[in-house]
Amino acid sequence: MNFTGSHILTVDQFELADVQRIFETATMMEPFALRRRRSRVLEGALLGNLFFEASTRSRFSFAAAFERLGGAVRDMIGFEHTSFQKGESIHDTSRVMSGYVDVMVVRHPELGKVDEFARATNVPVINSGDGTGEHPTQALLDLYTVQKETKTPIEKIKGLRVAVVGDLRHGRTVHSLVKIMALLDRLHFTFVAPDALQMPDELVAYAHSRGHDVVTTESLDDGLDGADLVYCTRLQEERFATAGEAARYRGMYAVNRQVFEKRCKPNAFLMHPLPRDSRIGAMEISLDMDEHPGLAIFRQADNGIAVRMALFVLLLGVADQVQATATDVPWFVPNKFGTKDC
Ligand code: NCD
Repeated sequence: MNFTGSHILTVDQFELADVQRIFETATMMEPFALRRRRSRVLEGALLGNLFFEASTRSRFSFAAAFERLGGAVRDMIGFEHTSFQKGESIHDTSRVMSGYVDVMVVRHPELGKVDEFARATNVPVINSGDGTGEHPTQALLDLYTVQKETKTPIEKIKGLRVAVVGDLRHGRTVHSLVKIMALLDRLHFTFVAPDALQMPDELVAYAHSRGHDVVTTESLDDGLDGADLVYCTRLQEERFATAGEAARYRGMYAVNRQVFEKRCKPNAFLMHPLPRDSRIGAMEISLDMDEHPGLAIFRQADNGIAVRMALFVLLLGVADQVQATATDVPWFVPNKFGTKDC
């Protein structure tokens, strides 16, 4: 695909070669993401970070990625202090933003609304989550994490056994993840969820159609058997009609050290898009996993910076100019967290 000026709305728009291009660029951005080097390549550019749903990582990491390359960021958070309160349409808001910013990142609680922003503007729009739909940049950083954790370029990964656990019906990160992983070679997916929260049929069918094995189960023990990668997700309480309905599933799947070590392969690793719900009764990842070297969740979150830097320089057409203004960082920067995540 031609990245310059494009929107990033769904992983459907990527072929394997596009993902490889993003990952090559992300690898180039690693010294910048690690804060060893800095570049002014985006100096003068402005990012509009429009988040109409809760966020910690996505909003902050998009901003950090943009600002560390010399750009500036303005936020719009929630509907309350915006002209949506006065009845303004998405079309008009987005059209107006085109006059102010060079790129927009949008998170919206309703499916299809980020596309509406994209249709009304001439600057690139990045979907940072649209209801139960997609979260394509999370899928990119997830797959980039798989490449780094397995130390294998994505085109060489074959037959990986992937257990995806939790609220697979409402979780947009896993919808995007399955589609992007389907670009790889002959995977074995096991979708572990209560029947009512299973992966949507069309995504199961899609994975089959791309030549992957797919098994669905309600049993965590069975689902984790022989897994190379376990991808856990949070119960998406905010997508249920009532809190009582969500409560029926709370804490149903807790991956602890014992089940992880007993069931998965010896070098298995555990991912989660975060936030994990650490309240008593939820705990989809037990705290006894925290010192486990296979716990990749924080390395995964860190990878968001390099991947988002890569997207910005590609969408704004300056990937080949990053080095021109690059210098070492003079201030104190702590060492990277080691392989033992904590
Ligand atoms: C996820 C999201 O918002 O979809 N968070 C994220 O961006 N990493 C996952 C979630 O909220 O459960």
